[in-house]
Amino acid sequence: MQGKFLTIEGAEGVGKTTNIDFIRQYLTSAGIDFIATREPGGTPLAEKIRELLLDAKQTAVSADTELLMMFAARAQHLAEKILPALEKGQWVICDRFTDATYAYQGGGRGIDTQRIAQLETWVQGSLRPDLTLLLDVPVELGLERAGNRSEPDRFEREKIDFFQRVRACYLERAAQEPQRFRVVDAARDLIEVQARIKQVLDEVIGA
Ligand code: TMP
Repeated sequence: MQGKFLTIEGAEGVGKTTNIDFIRQYLTSAGIDFIATREPGGTPLAEKIRELLLDAKQTAVSADTELLMMFAARAQHLAEKILPALEKGQWVICDRFTDATYAYQGGGRGIDTQRIAQLETWVQGSLRPDLTLLLDVPVELGLERAGNRSEPDRFEREKIDFFQRVRACYLERAAQEPQRFRVVDAARDLIEVQARIKQVLDEVIGA
């Protein structure tokens, strides 16, 4: 049986890392065979593309170049890691996937959604996540949380209105596809956030 494909999304500072750790622990305790990976990245070549994409010294990256590099990394990630795992029946837990492209390159950079959709079909065929967990916090709070971390990368250097467009795009996508998305209010206490995530995971485990 094909494994399940779960993606975790959200703008900066929503707590993805902490909550993905929680998801890994929960799936392990439930006896689920899974791999956890991330985008952009997940394979040696795609991690190299990630380095270029996040490099704050690259100040002249065009929006189309950025979009194509995201999908180049994704094509490699799918071929080398995601598809083989799903075919073996393993679950794949992916820290960001194509919804991030719609949110950042579409919402943030203003690239036409149709172009992103064409690349999505080209690179993924009919593959879409079975379930997407969208961790949502108000932009100001997210940036405040993320700001306490290390040197900002090329995306983290963007201004607040960029992240407002990213968040709005994520929420719009979640509203359009309620059967796939579960939106978690990640501004709440961690205990409450994780109780909600557990509920969502139980729903998928039971399905
Ligand atoms: P991370 O900080 O969650 O590891 O992700 C790296 C950055 O890449 C983050 O700022 C969002 C951005 N990104 C895109 O712009 N488009 C995409 O398709 C993906 C997967 C990530």
